[in-house]
Amino acid sequence: MPAGGFSAPAPNGVEFEAKITPIVVISCIMAATGGLMFGYDVGVSGGVTSMDDFLVKFFPVVYRKKHQADNSNYCKYDNQGLQLFTSSLYLAGLTSTFFASYTTRNFGRKPTMLIAGIFFIIGVILNTAAQDLAMLIVGRIFLGCGVGFANQAVPLFLSEIAPTRIRGALNILFQLMTTIGILFANLVNYGTAKIHPWGWRLSLGLAGIPALLLTVGSILVVDTPNSLIQRGHLQEGKAVLKKIRGTENVEPEYNELLEASRIAKEVKHPFRNLLKRRNRPQLVIAIFLQIFQQFTGINAIMFYAPVLFNTLGFKNDASLYSAVITGAVNVISTVVSIYTVDKLGRRVLLLEAGIQMFLSQVVIAILLGIKLKDHTDGLPHGIGILVVVMVCVFVSAFAWSWGPLGWLIPSETFPLETRSAGQSVTVCVNLLFTFVIAQAFLSMLCHFKYGIFLFFSGWVLIMSVFVFFLVPETKNIPIEEMTEKVWKRHWYWKRFMDDDDEGLELHDEKKVGKTNGYDDSKL
Ligand code: BGC
Repeated sequence: MPAGGFSAPAPNGVEFEAKITPIVVISCIMAATGGLMFGYDVGVSGGVTSMDDFLVKFFPVVYRKKHQADNSNYCKYDNQGLQLFTSSLYLAGLTSTFFASYTTRNFGRKPTMLIAGIFFIIGVILNTAAQDLAMLIVGRIFLGCGVGFANQAVPLFLSEIAPTRIRGALNILFQLMTTIGILFANLVNYGTAKIHPWGWRLSLGLAGIPALLLTVGSILVVDTPNSLIQRGHLQEGKAVLKKIRGTENVEPEYNELLEASRIAKEVKHPFRNLLKRRNRPQLVIAIFLQIFQQFTGINAIMFYAPVLFNTLGFKNDASLYSAVITGAVNVISTVVSIYTVDKLGRRVLLLEAGIQMFLSQVVIAILLGIKLKDHTDGLPHGIGILVVVMVCVFVSAFAWSWGPLGWLIPSETFPLETRSAGQSVTVCVNLLFTFVIAQAFLSMLCHFKYGIFLFFSGWVLIMSVFVFFLVPETKNIPIEEMTEKVWKRHWYWKRFMDDDDEGLELHDEKKVGKTNGYDDSKL
C-alpha cells in the first residue's frame, strides 16, 4: 500500500510529459497577481497611517498625540481604531476563507479568483473615496474578502497548472509576488506622502492596478484540469490538459487526475478527515508554522515599519524610505530562498534564520533600551541607522525561511485527501494570527516598549526548538512518498503512522472513528 493508504494511480514520483508552454507561463503570471494584491494590502497601511493628512481626517486623536512633545515615544500610535484599519482586512480574510474553500471546490479556481478580483475592486473604490472611518473600514473588509478568496484559489491554481518539476518554485512565486507587492506599496507611499492633502488616496487607489490585473487575468485563464475533472467536465479537462502541457500524450496524467478526483469525491468530510489520527503530524505542523510565522514579529515591520521608524524619532520621509529599504531586502532575500530551498533544505534555512532573527531582535531591544528615552526626540542618528540595519538582518532571515516555508511546507506535506481542507486551515490560522499582530502591535509597543523585541525573540527561540525536534526535512521527497520516507521514519511522528486505519476512513467512517479512539460522528 503506498503512502497515504490509497492505491497509487501512477508510479511514485513519475514525471509526466509536459512542456512549459506559453499558456502556463501567462496563466501563472496572471494568477500570481493575487500575491501582488495581497502584498500591496500588507504594505500600504503602515505608510498611510503615518501620513498627517490621513490622520487629521480619520484619526485626529492620534494626530494630536503624535505631535504632542510630552507624549511617550512608544505610545504615539497606540489607538485601537487605527489598528483596526490594518487588522479588519485579516479578520474578513479569515472568515471568507471558508466560503472560498466551498467555491474553489464546487465552482472552480477560475471563478474563485474572479470573485477575489471583484472584491478587491470594490474595496479599492471604497478606500480611495473614503469620507469617514466607516467607509474606510468597510473598504478594508472587502479587500480582506478578496485576500481570503485569492489566497485560497491562487496557490492551488499555481500548483495544479504547473508541471511537477517547477511546482515548488511556483509556490514560492506567490510569496515573491507578495513581497514585490509590499515593496511596491512602500515606494508608492514614499512618493504620495509628498502630495497634500490627498496623497493617501492615491496610495490606496493604486491597489486598483493589481486588482484589475487579477480580475482580467481570471477571466482570461483556463480553469485547471484538476478542477474541471473533479466537477465532472471530463472532456474539457482533457482538452485543457493537452493545451497546457503542449502535447497529445496526456493519457497517464489524465488517468491520475481521474483517480485523484474519484478519491477526492469519496472523502465526504474533508475537514473531519483532517482530524484523523494519521493526519495529525501534518495538521499540527501546518498550524504551528502559521502561528510561529506571525510570532516572528515580521508583520510588526511589514505593517508598521514607517510608524515604528517614526516612533524611533525618524522624520516622515526617512521613515518611509527606511520602509522601502526593508521592503527591498524582503524581495531579494525571497529570491535567495528560491535558489537554496531545494539544495540546503527546509530545516537548515529555518534553523539558521532562527539564530539570525534572535540575535537581531535582541540587539534592537538593547539599542532601544539604552538609547531611546521615553520623552526625547528619538534615537541618535548613528544608532538609528544601526537599528535599520538590524531590522534588515531580521527581515532577510525571515524572507528566506519562515516567509516562503510557512506556506510551502504545509502545501507539500498534506496527503491528497486532505490537501484542500489543509490549505483552508493553513490560510485561516495564518490570517487569524496576522490579525492578532495587526490589532495588538502598537498597543504592545506602548506597554512593553523595547521589550516587545525581546518578546518576539523569545518566540523565535521556541519556534527554533520546535523546528529542531518536530519539523522533518521534506526536500526532494515526492509528495506521495511523504508517509513512507518522512513520517514513518521520524522519531516522534512515527507513532501516528500505525497502519491500522489505512484506507478505511474513505469507506467506513465509523470504524475509523473507533480506531482513532474517539467518536468521529460527533465532530
Ligand atoms: C506572511 C505575511 C507577511 C509576508 C512578508 C508572508 O509569508 O504570511 O504575513 O506579511 O510574508 O513578506
